[in-house]
Amino acid sequence: LRIKTYGSYTKLSSSHLAGRTVISIDLLRSGTSMTWALVNGATKVIPTADAAEAVSIASRMGGCVLGGERGGVKISGFDLGNSPFEYNKEAVSGKSVVVSTTNGTGAICGTEGAANVLLGCMLNCTAVARRAVELGNDVIIMCAGTDGDISADDLYAAGAIAETIIRLSDGDARACDMTLVACMVYKSWKNDQRELSVTHHCAKLIHLGFEKDVEFCLRRDITDIVPEYRNGVLGI
Ligand code: MLT
Repeated sequence: LRIKTYGSYTKLSSSHLAGRTVISIDLLRSGTSMTWALVNGATKVIPTADAAEAVSIASRMGGCVLGGERGGVKISGFDLGNSPFEYNKEAVSGKSVVVSTTNGTGAICGTEGAANVLLGCMLNCTAVARRAVELGNDVIIMCAGTDGDISADDLYAAGAIAETIIRLSDGDARACDMTLVACMVYKSWKNDQRELSVTHHCAKLIHLGFEKDVEFCLRRDITDIVPEYRNGVLGI
């Protein structure tokens, strides 16, 4: 099983994805928030790149929760922003959720053509790695990144997941150079996550007052739920 990591989803086209398991990562924060919505009983999550499209899907469906951000801040008129704490049981249980965020939702929407698309974050690190090993296909770890650039927080989660896949696949995994770099990032920061606060997106969120969100997004293995993206919908 080969593990190839991309620092930004914009580097990928559908020809890379055929027959592969894609693990889509946007650690801060949309991947974590969408996972948390499903943990808290949302019936499905529909990610969209475009905010206007999210509004039109939500009004067509009716009765759903509309969430998302631009620049880290809740989109005006939406029910929820992009803090995982907003996607609690009270807000999302038994409901469909439509979400549009700056980078993370667009990343997932571009995965058409992959054999399977899983949503990975620190909250479900071991569970998503186990699922990828079970599926048995080559793995693409696709980081959302920030505006086409690498985001070190995504690389941190990619490293945690890649290291776990390597451990679970009994010597059968072959990591590309970017995967090795991601594993090094994870190894060097895992024992002192405060070091992550110097990274671009983390610093921005802390500046906006979302320090608790960052702490939450870095919690490891608190759920076994692995969201899977099929036909435009994330579900479990
Ligand atoms: C994104 O999709 O770019 C992020 O989730 C932004 C954020 O942290 O709100």
